[in-house]
Amino acid sequence: MKDLEVEGLYITRKRKKWKFAHFDSYVNCFSHARTDSPDITKQALESYLPVGQPLVLEIAAGNAQFSLQLAKKYPDHNFIAIDIKSDRLYTSAKQALEEGVSNIAFLRMSMHELEHIFSEQSVKVIWLTFPDPFMRKRSIRRRLSHPLFLRKYRDILKDTGLLKFKTDNRDLFLWSLEQFVAENWIFAELTFGLHESALSDDYKIMTYYEQKFTAEGIPINLVSLATHKH
Ligand SMILES: C[S@@+](CC[C@H](N)C(=O)[O-])C[C@H]1O[C@@H](n2cnc3c(N)ncnc32)[C@H](O)[C@@H]1O
Repeated sequence: MKDLEVEGLYITRKRKKWKFAHFDSYVNCFSHARTDSPDITKQALESYLPVGQPLVLEIAAGNAQFSLQLAKKYPDHNFIAIDIKSDRLYTSAKQALEEGVSNIAFLRMSMHELEHIFSEQSVKVIWLTFPDPFMRKRSIRRRLSHPLFLRKYRDILKDTGLLKFKTDNRDLFLWSLEQFVAENWIFAELTFGLHESALSDDYKIMTYYEQKFTAEGIPINLVSLATHKH
């Protein structure tokens, strides 16, 4: 059993390495680290995506299947799926290239870098999908719905922009709602049972984690928030 586990680990590592290498060679994939020039990353993204289309970001995108479905449905919008882990983004990046979906890019980057790559008032919608809950007290600042991140989102969103957040984790959701109130976000839509709600079918397109949790019967929470009164 032990040998099998070790072998499994080895294969997983190899597969990850392979995905890292391919991610870097794909024309729709981009990486940005703290030490890189933000202008170069920005220019690379801008020259890849169609000019002049509204921008939608998915943050903590994981395998980014959600963004890819939205990109196919809305070819008149640009999508950028962001995650710190490129081996996760890789799957949808490959599929997008194979299917000729050219209004989506995949960006390996920590969310701490967000405001260096996206200008103020440049984003129409930010989707925060099933971020890690980081439930331990000392990890709270890593939550992507922490005020530290909410301020970054506010800065890059257009005045008419929206932040949309979905998660299975009720504790994280309730904590996040408190942060949204404290940070003066305006509630546009709220549900504790997305898939039973009358909200947009777009919202019900499932992420990888959402598929797993929904199959287990766990309800999905969603909130949509504006920075300003529309
Ligand atoms: C639980 S997964 C959810 C993935 C996807 N949204 C889904 O629903 O299937 C959370 C993702 O957030 C990413 N993540 C966590 N902290 C991050 C950070 N500071 N910057 C970028 N990505 C981060 C992780 O790499 C992971 O892929």
